[in-house]
Amino acid sequence: MADLRCNIAGIRSPNPFWLASAPPTDKEYNVRRALEAGWGGVVWKTLGEDPPVVNVSSRYGAVTHGGRRMAGLNNIELITDRPLATNIAEIKRIKRDFPDRAIVVSLMVPCVEESWRAILPIVEETGCDGIELNFGCPHGMSERNMGAAVGQVPDYVEMVTRWCKQNTRMPVIVKLTPNITNILMPARAAKAGGADAVSLINTVQSVVGVDLDAMTPLPAVDGQGTHGGYCGPAVKPIALRMLGDIARDPAMRGLPISGMGGVSSWREAAEFIAMGASGVQVCTAAMHHGFRIVSDMIDGLGNWMDAKGYADIDAFRGLANRNYVQWGELNIDFRTIARIDQDACISCGKCYIACEDTSHQAIAKHPGRVYEVIDAECVGCNLCAHVCPVDDCITMQPQPAAGPKRTWAVHPNNPHRLEPETVS
Ligand SMILES: Cc1cc2nc3c(=O)[nH]c(=O)nc-3n(C[C@H](O)[C@H](O)[C@H](O)COP(=O)(O)O)c2cc1C
Repeated sequence: MADLRCNIAGIRSPNPFWLASAPPTDKEYNVRRALEAGWGGVVWKTLGEDPPVVNVSSRYGAVTHGGRRMAGLNNIELITDRPLATNIAEIKRIKRDFPDRAIVVSLMVPCVEESWRAILPIVEETGCDGIELNFGCPHGMSERNMGAAVGQVPDYVEMVTRWCKQNTRMPVIVKLTPNITNILMPARAAKAGGADAVSLINTVQSVVGVDLDAMTPLPAVDGQGTHGGYCGPAVKPIALRMLGDIARDPAMRGLPISGMGGVSSWREAAEFIAMGASGVQVCTAAMHHGFRIVSDMIDGLGNWMDAKGYADIDAFRGLANRNYVQWGELNIDFRTIARIDQDACISCGKCYIACEDTSHQAIAKHPGRVYEVIDAECVGCNLCAHVCPVDDCITMQPQPAAGPKRTWAVHPNNPHRLEPETVS
């Protein structure tokens, strides 16, 4: 079977599936059971200074979409609310009992060097494999000038990363917030500060809904709500985009990435790795389905790698990133046309309505509710295939190329204009 071992900045684990810093990694009881279930590593729930923070009740909101529960999860929790000494003693025992797993400790203390210098030796003493700097929490901590308040200012990211590198021998992973316009700015700052790796994404600022009877944003705490952090399947596209941007950035070359945000199965893990990650972290899926999902993840990834002939993680890491290009590099002459499999079609008319009302009027409706694509009108937008409720009933068929590939190039005399350019 394929070799699933993972190495991120010298932190090794038997498989690339780590639990992300969150409630599943908040205490020894959880972490022990997770590691027994087979997780390759954990990032311990973020530790801070004593006295610990006080959390509110309630804490989570969720989006159920089309019958899928927790398609998105929102939380207004803070970092650990347990005393530092308790966590430290537990981490030490866990590392002693699971020496082959990656035990990384997430940290967030005030943005002054003294605070970081004070906590680092205490954490190092646990024997853990590395630290992850939580520059991402978008609520509660950011109002105290921590979390996203640091992660949104590249100069602070660089400064705190440097403090950590100067005051510990442990590998430093910088966890990035997605609540920023250009993810490359904090990522490059982390590298400039000496980070050994970056991880992303933390949660996305969000309000998950409104209780229209109580007129309260959700989740409600005694009749009031606040914005929280969004995660789970809904955020995967945001995470993949940001991860892809970092992985293809020449300035970031060589810096390992731990990817997360909506990883629920081996397939998303493979996607994140193909986009450039060296391993993945999981939170919502474990909170939804329990620790045992990792068995399917390990089997699924191993089977897929065997089928594809990938001997180890590095064999396919970043392969999709090579094809992740700027829009202007896309082939403007590539054409794809929808085809409706008449045997599979259930005549629901969804494709017709979508195309007729909102797109290109490229589907004809014949008597007897027979739908047919009008090739000359079809622009290959994929909408009909997406709305069709029957798997593989509508497929997109690439058309033979009419000539050499052309892309868009910036006009030599006008940077605001693009013009077609033949690619040799
Ligand atoms: C309830 C909850 C608490 C979290 N607490 C932390 C935390 O203390 N530190 C941190 O870095 N990330 C925290 N996160 C964010 C996760 O580590 C992870 O970045 C995010 O959930 C995306 O992964 P997912 O889509 O697999 O859930 C928390 C997430 C949730 C749902």
